[in-house]
Amino acid sequence: MNFKIRAAKMEDCKDISRMIMELAVYEKMPDQVKISHEELQRDGFCQNPFFECLVAEVPEEHKSKQGFTVVGYALYFYTYSTWKGPTVYLEDLYVMPEFRGTTCGTMLSARTVLFAQVAKKKQCVRLQLSVLDWNTPSRDFYAAKGAQDLTVTEGWHFIRFDGQNLDNLANEAPKD
Ligand SMILES: CC(C)(COP(=O)(O)OP(=O)(O)OC[C@H]1O[C@@H](n2cnc3c(N)ncnc32)[C@H](O)[C@@H]1OP(=O)(O)O)[C@@H](O)C(=O)NCCC(=O)NCCS
Repeated sequence: MNFKIRAAKMEDCKDISRMIMELAVYEKMPDQVKISHEELQRDGFCQNPFFECLVAEVPEEHKSKQGFTVVGYALYFYTYSTWKGPTVYLEDLYVMPEFRGTTCGTMLSARTVLFAQVAKKKQCVRLQLSVLDWNTPSRDFYAAKGAQDLTVTEGWHFIRFDGQNLDNLANEAPKD
């Protein structure tokens, strides 16, 4: 498959937004998606962006059945491990079904690491991500590339505060 991996541009946000929804449908949680392409543009293409994104693009002659040429994406951002140092967190890795099994997913994740280590001079020593327990194809995909499942090996749980619980926590802070 003839595809190119490149850094996403602001104009790609409609395609990224479409694929975020496709991934959420695949993950059986489409109702959870509240982000619009305008918010992606705001958050990813400002002076201090919250995330970076790579897209996989095919030439016009290989466009998808629905006419799309942007057929995959990797969206990531930087975090910090107090044990190991700079870390890149891969929030989403997605390739449209008709383009899977063509090394597109491998290239997107490999380029993410390369960007995080070298191109952006972040020198990341870790790539982290989370994956749903039933998503065996993707768990196998990561395992085959040498990733360890931290829930199995170290017993980590993935914790989140949001909505009212987040506000409640914030309200516990002293008002000065
Ligand atoms: C995970 C994902 C990004 C991998 O992308 P991909 O382009 O299929 O990856 P690759 O072509 O590099 O192939 C990776 C391996 O998966 C296998 N594979 C996965 N899905 C496949 C498919 N639909 N058809 C054929 N092979 C597939 C390949 O055989 C290959 O194994 P190999 O290296 O031993 O040959 C893609 O399957 C996907 O978008 N899945 C749904 C979303 C998801 O679960 N994302 C990850 C969680 S955030």
